[in-house]
Amino acid sequence: MKSTLRNRMMLIVGLVTGISVSLMYSAGADEPAKVESKEADNPAPRNIAQPFPPSMLAVANNRKLKVEDFEEARNCATCHPRQTKGWLGSMHSIAFKDPVFQAEWALAEKAMGGQLMNHCGGCHSPIGVTTGTIKFDPSLGKHGGFTAPKVAEEGVTCDVCHSTVRSNHAQSASGDPGNASLVLDPGETKYGPLKNAKSGYHETQYSDLHTKAEFCGNCHNIFHPFNQFPIEHTYDEWKTSPYAQADIPCQDCHMVPVETAVRVADEMKRARDLDQHGLGGKSSTKARETRDLVHDHGFVGGNAVIAPALGVANAEEHKIEAIKRLQNVAELDMDIKSGKGGAHELRVKVINARAGHHLPTSLTFIRLIWLDVTVTDDQGRVLLRSGELGADNRFDEDAVVFGNKSVDKDGKPTVNPWEIARFEEMNTIPPKGYRYGKYAFKLPSDTKAFKVDAKLNYMSYDQAVADKLLGKGAVKVPVVEMKSINRVYGAADLKAIEAPVKVSSN
Ligand code: HEC
Ligand code: HEC
Ligand code: HEC
Ligand code: HEC
Ligand code: HEC
Repeated sequence: MKSTLRNRMMLIVGLVTGISVSLMYSAGADEPAKVESKEADNPAPRNIAQPFPPSMLAVANNRKLKVEDFEEARNCATCHPRQTKGWLGSMHSIAFKDPVFQAEWALAEKAMGGQLMNHCGGCHSPIGVTTGTIKFDPSLGKHGGFTAPKVAEEGVTCDVCHSTVRSNHAQSASGDPGNASLVLDPGETKYGPLKNAKSGYHETQYSDLHTKAEFCGNCHNIFHPFNQFPIEHTYDEWKTSPYAQADIPCQDCHMVPVETAVRVADEMKRARDLDQHGLGGKSSTKARETRDLVHDHGFVGGNAVIAPALGVANAEEHKIEAIKRLQNVAELDMDIKSGKGGAHELRVKVINARAGHHLPTSLTFIRLIWLDVTVTDDQGRVLLRSGELGADNRFDEDAVVFGNKSVDKDGKPTVNPWEIARFEEMNTIPPKGYRYGKYAFKLPSDTKAFKVDAKLNYMSYDQAVADKLLGKGAVKVPVVEMKSINRVYGAADLKAIEAPVKVSSN
């Protein structure tokens, strides 16, 4: 940071009027014990790929970083209120504190004897890893036992993304971005998408990388650090999608309001090319220029659980946006044919209309997207029921679920990322593609009409996973109804089904 008087004044203004001002905080109070890294005695060569193994995270010129090299989000708040409001309460802002992550991290730490500290931390707290300040002490009872200085506990904070100078993915095993393949260079210069930005507080530098999906891919592609299995591959899914072909990056859906993202997916146009996108304005209260598009920093996905559970600022807004995002991604359709032995076959078609990757993506072995289907006849008899949620907040095992089933090297089911060796079954829905849920049911001879109700539901994780990680009954995992469809089949339809021809078109 520049140490001119003017800049010091601005910093003070930022501290006093900024968000969540904690006067108790001082850089010294939280200062961690000095961690001597191995590189100190044995300087690493300039081109070393992994100074924080097994993470791909790196620091420009192998500089040794201190916590004071990074600025907290509140230092940016006064001049960048729009970006700060979006980021506060986002999953990025709680990537370190997220209790589900911490609980799983603690399991990893115990199971692997500390070998995964940098791996998990590399994406969930890059500042903690590059400054060597993360401590693990389960007796603390705070989070899952992991603590770090405040700026490192901010997880994926402003100064992580805007200190990123390049991606070192060319050095990863597959050449794809992933496992935190970011190179950080914190300090005076903030790297971003503006070509002619001028700020009296910090230097600015245009970065093409920030406008690309690859930037997000550095963290949204996860390889097993030892067996290289692609555990999460949101970026790779995007790269082979029609959105990549149309040059529509992650930013155009996740850094704009949901309404705009829906238009992006329907019109297959970049957000900035939409008619009257209405996202212009000043990117800073101190900016001279008015920009055509200022980005929403909420990075909303499908998670409506963790921010409210932590009670962080803007949690309710993020939850509402996440639910809206889930309710606008899929479309449903159905058809019925007569099958063998007097049975009928119902097919419910689930279309991934508006996600730039598979549905679900990333933690495809934990996230639950399933169909809840009921067929009832004119006399009130339930002819088919599948996917009903029980009193224990879980649904029957025969339900149609869209996701992947992960197993370890011996084929035993596991959701622990360090144990996963392969997917035994894959059933996610590709972008702009569809999958069917198929069911068989029989009509009693006196049925004259019947009704089909189908719902597509979302749950961040099974109640059993939440109970295991957070304690039994600590959190009731909410269910989001993403889409529903119903259709009544009368006498004419019945005749047509028996013919047999399809009743509905698609
Ligand atoms: C996960 C990474 C990430 C985090 C965290 C993040 N940003 Fe950004 N920011 C971006 C990206 C990417 C862009 C450019 C998007 C584009 O042009 O496609 C951007 C754009 C900007 C811009 C340029 C104007 C605009 O809105 O487009 C400013 C200013 C900015 N960010 C400030 C901040 C501040 C302040 C914070 C913290 C409160 C923050 N950012 C947190 C990734 C991030
Ligand atoms: C390459 C970056 C990266 C690495 C490495 C990484 N994660 Fe994550 N993690 C993510 C991203 C991105 C998400 C969010 C995905 C989503 O919500 O769809 C996430 C989400 C999670 C979640 C779900 C949190 C929730 O509230 O739903 C858990 C649990 C988790 N990670 C545990 C771990 C553990 C344990 C490790 C180390 C063994 C690890 N992660 C390593 C990027 C990473
Ligand atoms: C005293 C006001 C002030 C403070 C404090 C401030 N900025 Fe800025 N920043 C600006 C101005 C002014 C611009 C230029 C905006 C424009 O031209 O549209 C800017 C531009 C940026 C850009 C765009 C750079 C580019 O070339 O694309 C980023 C990124 C950014 N700031 C990040 C941050 C971060 C992160 C912090 C906190 C650590 C921060 N700023 C604190 C005033 C400030
Ligand atoms: C430094 C690593 C990092 C970078 C860079 C990054 N992310 Fe993330 N992102 C994460 C982690 C870690 C989480 C999950 C936090 C958790 O669940 O605990 C996450 C969560 C998210 C979520 C919320 C997922 C949910 O379940 O609701 C979205 C959406 C997202 N990121 C989009 C983006 C986009 C778009 C970009 C690029 C502009 C980006 N991220 C860049 C690490 C990163
Ligand atoms: C065309 C719009 C679009 C694009 C492009 C897009 N996404 Fe998404 N994304 C969505 C929608 C809609 C959802 C909500 C449905 C879901 O959760 O899968 C979502 C969900 C997510 C989630 C949360 C998944 C979960 O349920 O845990 C993450 C993480 C994410 N996106 C990251 C990314 C990244 C990284 C990219 C770029 C490589 C990207 N997205 C590109 C629309 C998009």
